[in-house]
Amino acid sequence: MARKPFIAGNWKMNMTVESGKQLIAELKPLVKEAKCDIALCVPAILIPAMAKAVKGSKIKLGAQNVHFAENGAYTGEISAEMLKDYGVKYVIIGHSERRQYFGETDETVNKRTLTALKNGITPIVCVGETLSERENDETEKVLSRQLEIGLKDVEDVTKLVIAYEPVWAIGTGKTATDEQAQETIKFIRKKLGKLFGVKNANKVKIQYGGSMNAKNCKGLMAQPDIDGGLIGGASLKLDFATIVNYDK
Ligand code: PGA
Repeated sequence: MARKPFIAGNWKMNMTVESGKQLIAELKPLVKEAKCDIALCVPAILIPAMAKAVKGSKIKLGAQNVHFAENGAYTGEISAEMLKDYGVKYVIIGHSERRQYFGETDETVNKRTLTALKNGITPIVCVGETLSERENDETEKVLSRQLEIGLKDVEDVTKLVIAYEPVWAIGTGKTATDEQAQETIKFIRKKLGKLFGVKNANKVKIQYGGSMNAKNCKGLMAQPDIDGGLIGGASLKLDFATIVNYDK
């Protein structure tokens, strides 16, 4: 069966209750006819208000992180159960900004992924190489490590989504070319095949992320192994609807 395309926005640390509600109200009619699955991953504190805002639309709600413990003495953290309370369906795990600024490691990515899966929330597990790693020809080595450790002990890999986000393309306006993105995502699928079996790997949705926008989305989405996008900057505007409707 073909993989259903999946476009997710990542608001990062942007928007307020008011601006978020307004954007969603404007997006709703524009994404009504979309053929893909759609999610917006919003800041944790906006989840209650945005959960109401997306009601009755195709837009599902996502979070940007989840703690690996079920509950306990983890000041400032948010549990999977708390996310579920508001109907959160997806959670971004291991975004490069969290790896870079907040000490996220492949091991913590693994723990968070297992916790999300256990709670029925679909993890969007982010992987990707830095510019120096690409220039040193280490892309495949880095991705292999991120997948091997990050997805350790995952029982059903088809229940998660992978986002390939080359760090050098995030927020820089420098998108990977269609060919670069396709080639690397094809490698990721091959690696998943080695870890989880080819049949399962062929069912995993793999998104591209990194300066994906209303202009370049068509070319990227036309690649055989690219099943969607994780959209940062362009998800803060109505451009997000254009991306969701990439096939129109
Ligand atoms: P960008 O961010 O689209 O602003 O490059 C993508 C992401 O970090 O998920």
